[in-house]
Amino acid sequence: MRWFAHRGASDQFPENTLEAIEAAIPDVDGIEFDVHFSRDGVGVIIHDETVNRTTDGTGRVVDLTVAELKQLNAGARFKGSDGPVKTTIPTLDEVLALLAPTNVKLNIELKTDTIRYPGIEAYTLGRCHAHGIEKNRLIFSSFNHYSIDTVRKLDPGVETAILYPYPLYHPEQQAKQLGAKAIHPDYRRVTKGDVRLAHAAGIEVRVYTPKSVEDVRRMIMLGVDAVIVNDPKGFKASLSIH
Ligand code: G3P
Ligand code: CA
Repeated sequence: MRWFAHRGASDQFPENTLEAIEAAIPDVDGIEFDVHFSRDGVGVIIHDETVNRTTDGTGRVVDLTVAELKQLNAGARFKGSDGPVKTTIPTLDEVLALLAPTNVKLNIELKTDTIRYPGIEAYTLGRCHAHGIEKNRLIFSSFNHYSIDTVRKLDPGVETAILYPYPLYHPEQQAKQLGAKAIHPDYRRVTKGDVRLAHAAGIEVRVYTPKSVEDVRRMIMLGVDAVIVNDPKGFKASLSIH
């Protein structure tokens, strides 16, 4: 089974920051992070549509320029043992520059589920190519399956995966229909039948986001291909995986 860091090593460092992403590199096969557009059309790495939960600012990401976003402290609300951390919202380019020289896979989630970011699929693919990141290191995922379809049409050589938070009817068939190579379900939704049917169809199963070692154990029993977790290092140590 493979390990992906969810928003970087987000238990140890503020989620979706360069610190969290860099810290995860030695412990994982892949790193998941979330892409939005700033008001001036720059790809930025943050989970929510607003900056309210994770920074010391307020407002929608799409209403702020990248210069304004860069003024915010993306560690302001982090509840780590060392207290708040001072850091910024990274741009997509900063994350790609950090990860380009490594061997980890990049699981890039396009946050197009409730907001439209016209052109974000082509933009993100273009930035990955500009940084020289090999196609076989890329996995594009989204809850918006139209975005998955768009990525596939733009570059059929790049792997895609469908995200879903609820029980989906024959997810492996939906993945096949979209040319996706994997399903990324909420771990609470996945069943042994889902895994069996997915594998029979040649589709991988990577679940987000098991919260405990027991959750991970259950996922291993189900036969999933990967877990996307906030503390890969800690979970692997608890399971004596090196
Ligand atoms: O990509 C897996 C997971 O990150 C999807 O949910 O809400 O954490 O972005 P969310
Ligand atoms: Ca995500």
